Amino acid sequence: MESICYLTFLVKLVVCSFCFMVLGSDARQLSSQNDVAALMAFKKSSVDADPNGFLNDWSSSSSSPCSWKGVFCALNDGRVTRLDLANAGVIGRLHLSDLMALPSLTQLHLHGNLFSGDLSSTTRFCRFETIDLSANNLSEPLAAQSSLLSCNRLVSLNVSRNSIPGGSLKFGPSLLQLDLSRNRISDSTLLTYTLSNCQNLNLLNFSDNKLTGKLNDTLSSCKNLWDLDLSYNQLSGEIPASFVMDSPASLRVVDLSHNNFTGDVLSLEFGNCRNLSVLNLSHNSLSGTGFPASLANCQLLETLDIGRNALSFRIPGVLLGKLKNLRRLYLDHNHLSGEIPPELGHICGTLEVLDLSGNQFVGGLPSTFALCSSLLSLNLGNNQLSGDFLSTVVSSLPSLRENTS
Ligand SMILES: *[C@@H]1O[C@H](CO)[C@@H](O)[C@H](O)[C@H]1NC(C)=O
Ligand SMILES: *[C@@H]1O[C@H](CO)[C@@H](O)[C@H](O)[C@H]1NC(C)=O
Ligand SMILES: *[C@@H]1O[C@H](CO)[C@@H](O)[C@H](O)[C@H]1NC(C)=O
Ligand SMILES: *[C@@H]1O[C@H](CO)[C@@H](O)[C@H](O)[C@H]1NC(C)=O
Ligand SMILES: *[C@@H]1O[C@H](CO)[C@@H](O)[C@H](O)[C@H]1NC(C)=O
Ligand SMILES: *[C@@H]1O[C@H](CO)[C@@H](O)[C@H](O)[C@H]1NC(C)=O
Ligand SMILES: *[C@@H]1O[C@H](CO)[C@@H](O)[C@H](O)[C@H]1NC(C)=O
Repeated sequence: MESICYLTFLVKLVVCSFCFMVLGSDARQLSSQNDVAALMAFKKSSVDADPNGFLNDWSSSSSSPCSWKGVFCALNDGRVTRLDLANAGVIGRLHLSDLMALPSLTQLHLHGNLFSGDLSSTTRFCRFETIDLSANNLSEPLAAQSSLLSCNRLVSLNVSRNSIPGGSLKFGPSLLQLDLSRNRISDSTLLTYTLSNCQNLNLLNFSDNKLTGKLNDTLSSCKNLWDLDLSYNQLSGEIPASFVMDSPASLRVVDLSHNNFTGDVLSLEFGNCRNLSVLNLSHNSLSGTGFPASLANCQLLETLDIGRNALSFRIPGVLLGKLKNLRRLYLDHNHLSGEIPPELGHICGTLEVLDLSGNQFVGGLPSTFALCSSLLSLNLGNNQLSGDFLSTVVSSLPSLRENTS
């Protein structure tokens, strides 16, 4: 009796797990069909031409898209998680909404195609974590209705190397990296919006655009910013003292080079620049009667580039001597005068690159420089230096690879 009971139980168990398996594989098949349909809808709406035949194996008769070129699926449920059409050379007008129909698609790598469009979408649900649309043909303003605000898991957006003129794109607090470099952004709406909504941004890159006007904003709301790059624009006027003063302690790289900033660097106040490693103010029209003493707060500073400006002081040797981690110092092509201070030799243990060329320095290279055991490159050209420092000091530098004295 007992064994019959047991047998019935076993049979039931086997039958049951069989029906679960059937149910499971039915569901899997259904979702694969949905993914096929969504990707085919995307191909239809967004791909006008595919000259390299990258999408040749994308076909609505497939039972699953997981073996298609550029399509990657999760092992457990077979849903599409990543689309990688990098450098496929596909041409068309992007309709992100069709891709948002794929419930597990989080990684969108569309670098190196000719997609145009404005990132607009009619869908309210967005699960993208990464969108890389760099090196495409985006030439319209990034529309406000693109509402990346609904992409509440979006971590990285890269639209570098397009022809975007600006726009009123909005994003949410999940965003950590925003790369807008190498576009044609001339209206400052995006810059203003970004700097006042940067909440969690780590990286903000506006390099190589067409921004003009004064830098009005501060970084005080960018509590987590590491890298800020505004280089290669046409920003002008003074860099607001509060811009650096109120900067977050997280800041690591600040590149304002290749703009048209004016004003005295002495008026910049460095606040808590605890993590600042790279400060690049080169290729501007900054004047300067001295360095602000608060620069010494930036104890982790490794690279200081203020070359090609209009600085006209004597090198503050004592101040620079306090920057014990300085590796690269560029003060070239300014109106600096006087002698090269011996205190500069005090940071010689770390200094690798020193460019003082194109100034009005007189005298020689102090003998303290004989301790510059890490110096790889020394450029003292185009000054009014004199004396026998070449044979006495420079010739004794053990690691020097490049010497333009
Ligand atoms: C954005 O894409 C470009 C390639 O087009 C790449 O060089 C750059 O590193 C990317 N930016 C980020 C923040 O990853
Ligand atoms: C790039 O986009 C512009 C504007 O949307 C369009 O006129 C042009 O044909 C596109 N270029 C290519 C090569 O598709
Ligand atoms: C910003 O983008 C430019 C051009 O794409 C790149 O060369 C530069 O390294 C980027 N800056 C940072 C801080 O990542
Ligand atoms: C700064 O403010 C002025 C006046 O409101 C405006 O004209 C200018 O475009 C702003 N500059 C930037 C870079 O936002
Ligand atoms: C400074 O940098 C370190 C190392 O990258 C990081 O752990 C720390 O959180 C940063 N400090 C701030 C205030 O962000
Ligand atoms: C930089 O500013 C100066 C003075 O305001 C102006 O004469 C010059 O044309 C500007 N240069 C650029 C490249 O904008
Ligand atoms: C500072 O910026 C200029 C112009 O972008 C660049 O040529 C230079 O390499 C940068 N300096 C450093 C030390 O990175």
